[in-house]
Amino acid sequence: MLRLGLMGCGVVASYGHVPAIARTAGCKLVSIFEPDSARLIDAKDRYKVEKGFTDPNLFFQSGIDAVIVTSPAPAHLENVTMAARYGKPVLCEKPLAMNEAESLQMIEIMERANLPLYVGFTYRFSPVAMEIKRLVSEGAIGKARSLRLIYLWDCHGKFDCRTGSTKPNPGRHGRMIEGGPMVDCGVHQIDLARWWLGSEVKRTVGTGAWVDEHEAPDHVYLHLDHDSGAHTMVEMSYSYGHTSKDQRCHFVYELIGTDGLIRYDRQARIFELVNHQGTKHLTWTEEKNFDGMYTEFVRALQTGQPGNMPTGRDGLAATRLARVATEDMMRGRVASA
Ligand SMILES: NC(=O)c1ccc[n+]([C@@H]2O[C@H](COP(=O)([O-])OP(=O)(O)OC[C@H]3O[C@@H](n4cnc5c(N)ncnc54)[C@H](O)[C@@H]3O)[C@@H](O)[C@H]2O)c1
Repeated sequence: MLRLGLMGCGVVASYGHVPAIARTAGCKLVSIFEPDSARLIDAKDRYKVEKGFTDPNLFFQSGIDAVIVTSPAPAHLENVTMAARYGKPVLCEKPLAMNEAESLQMIEIMERANLPLYVGFTYRFSPVAMEIKRLVSEGAIGKARSLRLIYLWDCHGKFDCRTGSTKPNPGRHGRMIEGGPMVDCGVHQIDLARWWLGSEVKRTVGTGAWVDEHEAPDHVYLHLDHDSGAHTMVEMSYSYGHTSKDQRCHFVYELIGTDGLIRYDRQARIFELVNHQGTKHLTWTEEKNFDGMYTEFVRALQTGQPGNMPTGRDGLAATRLARVATEDMMRGRVASA
């Protein structure tokens, strides 16, 4: 049984990681670290975990085999550096770090310690993403040439609960400071494109819009040219109805190949393969899968083989593309002001 410790008891830990760990055979949450003592007491109770610490050294000495990092991005480097010092493998939430230098530093620290560093690209593990991977590699749409990956939503709304309050929503604000929609969410889509196609990105063109007032653009378009000759367009928004009372979103994967098309649409609940043989209706599921990620994480640590686990280098590649494009857009806006 793999004894897991978790650092950072916030939103993603509570709805994603902790329930998934509880449902996954071969691992158990035995210890948590949270610097905010009130949150720690609450999390210890809610997660039903025996050991909880506000001191990271005591946490690392609490009998854990591996570490889950679910703190905000600015804390990832510090958390991973300590994990390496204590000889613990890591599954770290995306984005890997706040900048390229920190991401590389994390990867090199773990490589020097001969420890695996995996990244929480949960979208890879949804049955839909796995099926797309299989269909593309089997040539079900011929050669995949053009991908349209779109996720437009409000990032929990500009104001708290859209009650008419004008109090800014702190969660959304934090995500915009970390880099905005392409760096926060778009890294998943960029990772999927690289993984589905098995092809690196050689050139990018990006452009953004400022619907809301933040330093980073809150509606971003990123075009990726792959080594294989395929092209991916990722469109991400955090301002799709961000002041509206009623929530709307738009989530689509479309893969266009030399012999067919794969379509996935969250709202319409469509998942289908359309090619010269006709239309095959596939089983629709949601796009995230924390349980699948933990099953693969346990397997990867037991066998020493990453398998489908996204590595630190996958995390760096996706984050680099998202961040460089976003920073170019921000510089471009300042230059043209
Ligand atoms: N993979 C996904 O689908 C997904 C979804 C949501 C968020 N995330 C990522 O997960 C990370 C956390 O997001 P969240 O929404 O849960 O944030 P959050 O702010 O709700 O929770 C973070 C928690 O970490 C704690 N913390 C602060 N400093 C810390 C430190 N130095 N060490 C350990 N813990 C510390 C905070 O007190 C807080 O309790 C972010 O990097 C975010 O981008 C990933």
